[in-house]
Amino acid sequence: MRTPLIAGNWKMNGSAALVEEFGRAFAETTLPASLDVVILPPFPYLDAARRAFDGTPLRLGAQTLNPLHSGARTGEVSGRMLREFGVEYALAGHSERRQLYREGDEAVLDRLLAALNVDITPILCVGETLEERDAGRTQEVVLRQVGYAMARLEPDQRERVIIAYEPVWAIGTGRTATPQQAQEVMAAIREYQAGFDRDLAAGLRLLYGGSMNAGNAAELLAQPDIDGGLVGGASLKVDDFLAICQSAG
Ligand code: G3P
Repeated sequence: MRTPLIAGNWKMNGSAALVEEFGRAFAETTLPASLDVVILPPFPYLDAARRAFDGTPLRLGAQTLNPLHSGARTGEVSGRMLREFGVEYALAGHSERRQLYREGDEAVLDRLLAALNVDITPILCVGETLEERDAGRTQEVVLRQVGYAMARLEPDQRERVIIAYEPVWAIGTGRTATPQQAQEVMAAIREYQAGFDRDLAAGLRLLYGGSMNAGNAAELLAQPDIDGGLVGGASLKVDDFLAICQSAG
């Protein structure tokens, strides 16, 4: 009932050549029939990616966006601009943005709303630090992040949000959450959503992120509440990313 989604977050990596390589590889591959695949390249590659991905199943996403449509915000990019370049998805609240750019729950909500306002599907990222996990605070932290945003959205907006659970300690460390650890948190997120609306919770797409790779994807994606992956490092290698996509079928 929930279409699986695999998203490749290139972060501040990649090149024009990698964009072309992905376009070629995905033009020649048959993916599982029911699967959404998104690449989130750095902004300068969006236009080339739109052209290179034309005719392939690859869709475009943005790693962040500014809440305003336009204005004096040096260095920023708005959702309206992203739409012009064919962007259909955008991250909000990635832990690197929360930590390095001090984006708190309110700033994350602003970005979610900005995406929704221009018809971009937001992917709300949540996750606990190692310190928080060790202190037994995982669910408290994750559900606070989810709840802050979800409780402030209208029901029809909530339906359009995708949530990515990315334990901070698993990002770029090679230390993946076990399928059981991930499943436990994802189930708690779905249960929380069920508090608003059971149908909405049943349809909510939940992605796991944190050192997902070609070797561990199948087991993670087999968990009942994991509907896809938000992939960092392994999304920069076309063969690995293709293998992850294949295991989502
Ligand atoms: O957004 C994806 C991410 O933070 C996970 O990165 O490199 O651990 O797959 P990585």
